[in-house]
This record gives sequence, structure tokens and C-alpha cells, in this order.
Amino acid sequence: MSFSIIILAAGKGSRMNSKIPKVFHKVGNLPMIFHVLNVSASLKPKMISMVVSNELESHKKIIKDRYNNIKFAIQTKQLGTADAVKCALSEKSFKSSDISIILYGDTPLISHISLKKSLEKFKKINSDLCILSMTPPNTDHSYGRLITKKDCVEKIIEQSELKNNQQADNLCNTGIMLIKTKYLIEKLKKIKNENKKKEFFLTDIVEILNNEGYKVSHLEFPYYEFLGVNNKSDLALVENHFQKIVREKFLKQGVTLIDPNSVFFSSDTKIGKDVVIHPNVHFGVNVQIGDDVEIKSFCHLENTIIKNQASIGPFARLRDKTKIEKEVKVGNFVEIKKSNLKSNVKVSHLSYIGDADIGKNTNIGAGMITCNYDGFRKNKTFIGENCFIGSNTSLIAPIKISQNSIIGASTVIDKNIPKGTTVYRKSELIKKSNKK
Ligand code: UD1
Ligand code: MG
Repeated sequence: MSFSIIILAAGKGSRMNSKIPKVFHKVGNLPMIFHVLNVSASLKPKMISMVVSNELESHKKIIKDRYNNIKFAIQTKQLGTADAVKCALSEKSFKSSDISIILYGDTPLISHISLKKSLEKFKKINSDLCILSMTPPNTDHSYGRLITKKDCVEKIIEQSELKNNQQADNLCNTGIMLIKTKYLIEKLKKIKNENKKKEFFLTDIVEILNNEGYKVSHLEFPYYEFLGVNNKSDLALVENHFQKIVREKFLKQGVTLIDPNSVFFSSDTKIGKDVVIHPNVHFGVNVQIGDDVEIKSFCHLENTIIKNQASIGPFARLRDKTKIEKEVKVGNFVEIKKSNLKSNVKVSHLSYIGDADIGKNTNIGAGMITCNYDGFRKNKTFIGENCFIGSNTSLIAPIKISQNSIIGASTVIDKNIPKGTTVYRKSELIKKSNKK
């Protein structure tokens, strides 16, 4: 049986109180919608259609660049989830899929495993519609409630339509459903907007199918995987749970996290074997760590590659296409930006290294600064292999210090240094007695 996926992402997201479209808010530094698109693509459906609003028009290119065979459907007025699905179905080729899976762009933690399992079950029990359900830990939420009889779902009541005596049952709608496409097309037309919000609720399709004798089932999943984001509190909760999932993944993979709860990862963080990460470390986007690396406390890393046996921190900031080769040591209060440090370089204390290439075995003394910005341009610094750069030196870029050179402490370097040269500035120490 063939299947296609519809992702609803056109909602106003007004409860987020933000000018950023809801589905572009990030979880693990990746927009929520990319999480949903990743899991959708991993299922290899016949087609993926994403329903977007006019406001998302400008974001379509970003999405297209990453996922080139997505079809877009525009929902010009946000009249509700049923209306959004109707927009997706205007794409004729959709009709050729036997099953439609409907996902919400604001539910980013759904896993490949759960969706695959649902699809298999849906085919096996020959259901006409299957709702993925969950039981939140309390009743203080805005999820729709499932009204069930034995294994069948009779209807879904939205929170806004709930009467007091219906509060007790807390089996809820995750928002995700699998439905035979022909019934989706047929029954969608019957949904009315006779509710307090005057919206066309997709969830009303449950009662319509049930009344007509079709088989409506549900499959319950753990609540946290299906958290929906409607406001910033939800976003914080989802982020929190995302971090738990990633920490668990790395722990299983053999990474040592001394205090897992204080380490924050991005969705694309990659870590090798026998890596030790101390408390309070933040991984921004695009960080790759090799094997046997130690990241000490209070480091902030983004857009950085760190090769085997390097030691970073505590209190180091690495960013913007920085590459750290093997056995490099980056110590405390060091910032490195857009630089390459070759193997066995040591920058142990209090340095700023920006737009620099540093050759292997070079030692950078405490407080060395690359003066890379002249107020107009960012200029490059080259330091060759086996150099010794003394403490408190300033290297005025563009500058080249060739291999095997020694720079004396407190020197300001504003000329290129040929290889094998020792340079220092001589200034006399003046001593004067304070006695009268
Ligand atoms: C919805 C469900 C609720 C479920 C919850 C799970 C309905 C009516 N209610 O409520 O039963 O428990 O999700 O998180 O479906 N959207 C559009 N166009 C619209 C309206 C919404 O594309 O006109 C999209 C939104 O971008 C979002 C999704 O549909 O991705 C769900 O909409 P939202 O307003 O968040 O519905 P909930 O109130 O969360
Ligand atoms: Mg929602």
C-alpha cells in the first residue's frame, strides 16, 4: 500500500508571541519543521506535501534547498486544520496514494520508529483511520480528548469545546493520524465550522467516519514524543526533552557526560569514541568531535571541528569554521574564530585567535592576541611550525611569522618574520627610588 505525508504548517502561531513563524522556532538549534521533514523523508513516502501560509512564502526557498522534492500547498486563510488538509489535497497526484499520514509542523519530536510502527499496525488491523494518542501527566493542556468505546474512537473533543464533566478522561490526540486517502478526500467535505473558534477541525473527521460505520482506531504512544508547541513554555519543554533524548544517545554511544543535565547539544552534533565532556558545555550548530577528546567545563563551541586527542577548556569559545587538529591543547579563557590549529599546537591561557593558521608544534604564550580587524577588514595571521610566541604579544594582521621563530614576551609584531628568527623589542626598565 502506498502512502504520502501531509505536514500542516500554516497556522498563525499567535500563542508564540513572535514575528518568527511558529514552525521555524528551533529545537536543538534546528527549526521544528526540519525535524518533521527529516522524519518524513526517512519514511520514504510517495510524496510529501507541506501546507504553508503566505507568511511562510519567503521561507519556502530555505526548505526547498534542503528537501528538493517537497510539494507546497498555500493556505491563504487559516480556517483550521481540516481546511489546511483540503489545500494539500488540491495536488492531484495525492489521490494515487492509498494512505495519508498527517503530521503537524509543531510536533517535532516524533521518531521514525513510532511512525513506522504505526504504519505497519494500520495496515495490519485494516483500520480506516488511526489516531496516534497519548496521555499527558496532568489535565492542564490544550490537546483534544479522545472519546473511546472499547478499541474504537468515537470522536475527538477539542479543549475549547470540552464540557466540565468530560475533563476526567485524559486520553489525548497527538495531532498525528493515518487515514485511507479516499475517505479523507470524501469526508473532509462534511466537516463544518460549528464550534466556538469557527474553525474547521480536522479532528471532526473521527465522528463522521464513526457514525458511518468505518473503523477508527487509536495507538497510544509516550506523551513526551508527541509534545506539541503552541507557546514558549511548550517550546522550552520540548527543548528539554530533546536534550534528554540526545544525551541518552551519546551516553549509549560511550561518551562520558559527567553531568548530563548541564550539557546542551544541537541536533547535528557529532561525537567520536572515548570523549569526556565536563559539566556546563554548550554545543552550537555544526560541531564535530573526534576520538579521545576532553572538553572541560564552561566551553561554548559552534561551527568547529575538533580532531582526536585534543583538550579544550575550561572556559574556551571556539566558533566560525575553526579546525582543531589532533593533540592540540586549548586552555582557559581562549577564543578562537575561523582559524586552523595544526597538530600539537598549545594555546594554554587567555588568547584571542581570529582568522589565523598556526603550524604544528607551535606554542602560543598567555595573552597573545591576533589583531585581525583594522576597522574595515578582517586580516589573516600565519604562524609557521615550531614557533614560540611569548606572552602578551600582539600580532598585527595581515602578518606572517615563519617556522622555527621565537617572539619575545610583550612584543608588538607589525612586520613579517622570516623563518628561524628571534625577535623582541628592547625597552629599558626604569627604576627610581621613592625616598625623598
Ligand atoms: C491540534 C489538534 C488537537 C491536538 C493538538 C496536538 C485540531 C483541531 N486540534 O490542536 O486535537 O491535540 O493539535 O498538538 O486539529 N494549521 C494549519 N492551518 C490552520 C490551522 C493550523 O496549517 O488553519 C497547522 C499549524 O501550523 C500546526 C497544526 O496545524 O502545525 C496544528 O494547529 P494548532 O493550531 O497548533 O492546533 P492545536 O490547538 O495544537
Ligand atoms: Mg499545536
